[in-house]
Amino acid sequence: MSNGDRKIIARIEDATLAFGERVILKNCNLDIVDGAITCIIGLSGAGKSTILRLLDGLLLPSAGHVYVRGRDVCHITEEQRNRVRQKISLSFQFSALLDSLTVGENVALPLREHTRLSEAEIRRTVMDALDSVGLTRAFDNLPAELSGGMLKRAGFARAIVTRPDLVLYDEPTTGLDPIVTNLITDTIVRLREKLNGTAVVISHDLSSIFGMADYVAMLFEGAIIAYDTAQGIRNSPNPIVQQFLSGSEIGPIPI
Ligand SMILES: Nc1ncnc2c1ncn2[C@@H]1O[C@H](COP(=O)(O)OP(=O)(O)OP(=O)(O)O)[C@@H](O)[C@H]1O
Ligand SMILES: [Mg+2]
Repeated sequence: MSNGDRKIIARIEDATLAFGERVILKNCNLDIVDGAITCIIGLSGAGKSTILRLLDGLLLPSAGHVYVRGRDVCHITEEQRNRVRQKISLSFQFSALLDSLTVGENVALPLREHTRLSEAEIRRTVMDALDSVGLTRAFDNLPAELSGGMLKRAGFARAIVTRPDLVLYDEPTTGLDPIVTNLITDTIVRLREKLNGTAVVISHDLSSIFGMADYVAMLFEGAIIAYDTAQGIRNSPNPIVQQFLSGSEIGPIPI
């Protein structure tokens, strides 16, 4: 799949999705450029996490299509979809580590579930994943012993330990101080390079977004209403985008 001269790893095409009566996405279109970092912005409750769940195959649209690496994931068997999902990883808003397991054991979980590596190989792979987020020293710690930023990074290590080529991050910096936010932003950039893959990041943090995004998409009232390079979005003439970026209460966004 391509869009101009850019290769597309995932595409949401004319997707509509409702929870009961509530329509969340309506004829929503979004291309995820291969090898890039795409940030999704939008109001709280707009449906950003829903888009990540579509890309991860956890939800299917009621109309429209979701393609991953050219395959329509809505019209394949459960088993085929699981195979597509093995190369995708979703890092949740809350890092969701198991409290009773050490960081090392938490990061090892996807390897135990999806691979047949030996104990020595698991240890080496977990150490490598922890090293790429600067956390090897936390291998034997319990999650309760970690700070918020360390918990996020441990969650990233678990998300990338199976070397997915598409990593989806849901609000990775929410609730963190500006310095840790910078550290997390740099970590996402470095992980994308290490995996030689693609990242999609939901964020409300403008400095973080403009510190990492190649492309930015804005979700508003069920559809992507603006999509451009980070610079293009910054200079967007769209009044909805401008109001969102400036945080103004005055403008076309109903509040
Ligand atoms: N499983 C579900 N059943 C019913 N409603 C849901 C479900 N999941 C999400 N919603 C609703 O759909 C809307 C969009 O949810 P979503 O979590 O995608 O928004 P979001 O943009 O990620 O919001 P936030 O910025 O608060 O994380 C919300 O109003 C939410 O309450
Ligand atoms: Mg969300």
